[in-house]
Amino acid sequence: AAPSKVANGTPSAITVEEFEDLASLSQDDEASVSITVVGASGDLAKKKIFPALFALYYEDCLPKHFSIFGYARSKMTDAELRDMVSRTLTCRIDKRENCSEKMEEFLKRCFYHSGQYDSEADFKELGKKIKQHEGPRVSNRLFYLSIPPNIFLDVVKCASRSASSENGWTRVIVEKPFGRDSESSAALTRGLKQYLVEDQIFRIDHYLGKELVENLSVLRFSNLVFEPLWSRQYIRNVQLIFSEDFGTEGRGGYFDSYGIIRDIMQNHLLQILALFAMETPISLEAEDIRNEKVKVLRSMKPLQLEDVVIGQYKSHTKGGITYPGYTDDKTVPKGSLAPTFAAAALFINNARWDGVPFLMKAGKALHTKQAEIRVQFRHVPGNLYKGAFGTDLDRATNELVIRVQPDEAIYLKINNKIPGLGMRLDRSNLNLHYAARYSKEIPDAYERLLLDAIEGERRLFIRSDELDAAWELFTPLLKELEQKRTAPELYPYGSRGPVGAHYLAAKYNVRWG
Ligand code: NDP
Ligand code: BG6
Repeated sequence: AAPSKVANGTPSAITVEEFEDLASLSQDDEASVSITVVGASGDLAKKKIFPALFALYYEDCLPKHFSIFGYARSKMTDAELRDMVSRTLTCRIDKRENCSEKMEEFLKRCFYHSGQYDSEADFKELGKKIKQHEGPRVSNRLFYLSIPPNIFLDVVKCASRSASSENGWTRVIVEKPFGRDSESSAALTRGLKQYLVEDQIFRIDHYLGKELVENLSVLRFSNLVFEPLWSRQYIRNVQLIFSEDFGTEGRGGYFDSYGIIRDIMQNHLLQILALFAMETPISLEAEDIRNEKVKVLRSMKPLQLEDVVIGQYKSHTKGGITYPGYTDDKTVPKGSLAPTFAAAALFINNARWDGVPFLMKAGKALHTKQAEIRVQFRHVPGNLYKGAFGTDLDRATNELVIRVQPDEAIYLKINNKIPGLGMRLDRSNLNLHYAARYSKEIPDAYERLLLDAIEGERRLFIRSDELDAAWELFTPLLKELEQKRTAPELYPYGSRGPVGAHYLAAKYNVRWG
């Protein structure tokens, strides 16, 4: 029955031949694609989804016959949606040629339908509206769930029953959080699978759509110089670092029931880790890559409390300005223990990575906004140049840095002779600085991921077994922290985070980069 579900979201018997006909029809240039942004009145829709759709339109990446529908409870007319979209649309395209003409054209293809999230009747009306725009063409429909997770299932039920395609594909993009632990995530997956098959579900982790994260496999598997070094034999430790220089700012309500470990580590940083550490996939096909990622996750030991440090930012005054602490946010319960910072050491129990610490660090309200991967290599054996660096022996090791954002770059710290008559060494960077090397601006992660979902490319989306494996690593720790009511170490807003993170790194002979 799976093929029929892929086609229209409701089980019915069609043959494999019929399914193949349908699949080829739905890839037809003349097929229509309708994208419904559920929760169109919300923050993510305005900030990311509509701008990404417009950028795709501007770049001629959307199919010829496309329409976009906003759906939410708020009352809005088509004109009001268009006004909202055009006013909030700040994106990389803004200063390009013909931007306003393109915007006019784009807005003509955006429509709004107001309805309840649990009303099949309202979704039926939406379905009728979509149908009017599709005309007699093959109908392909994408629903983007940009809504709080407690209403995911209501929407999937109503959309699949009352607004899914009758003769093309129906796909659903689901935003995180995918549950808060193994049990709730499994319940969500079971719930979704009552109405959809796995191939219809596109679980988004927008870090996978970031240019330098996508480039990780290229760097590794297409350059002879890196892959042979990619193991415990040469790599001393790997660091995955995420920091933001602002607090929860308005999202405290959501954040408090999740905390930084669920918000960033269990998904964004763990996904990067899996891509970084996986074995060579058989091909670049989605299933081959996802199979390798799952193997890495399953080779890891669940996180241990003694290998984790948690922190929470407190108010801090600097230059006459007082920055609020996390619990000063009105949407955060007084005395909340939710971590806004965490550092952890993880290990992969396989032949390639045995004993290599993978250190993760994620925090809000820190001194800088940055996401990077740091690979610290072992010392060169022997001591041929001992003394040539002065006393700082640590400087003699190589380090590869992949700066995911901002100001994307890949640089390798190498040892080099300082030009001159003496024999003095320093450490210099072989630097691939994207802004200097590539003139074209980098698309937003949401552009890549939306385009992939439209094209049915699943490589950058999370499969349910990957999700299960990811939660298995974090759930015992999260439960222990909550049961023990572990108090986070306080750190001042705008600082480098709690000192405990340095002790954790030192335990494994690591210095944060
Ligand atoms: P919002 O809180 O802005 O909610 C989106 C829309 O959902 C609202 O405009 C509202 O529309 C409706 N809504 C909000 N709360 C409820 C409720 N309790 N019951 C029913 N409907 C409600 O969310 P975001 O746009 O910030 O995020 C959407 C999804 O994306 C969430 O799952 C979030 O976790 C995830 N996400 C968000 C990010 C961000 O930067 N904002 C980043 C990464 C993920 P209306 O009242 O008109 O129906
Ligand atoms: C989201 C988190 O997934 O990623 C937010 O929920 C965080 O808390 C955001 O701010 C960071 O994304 P980016 O792309 O701005 O680094």
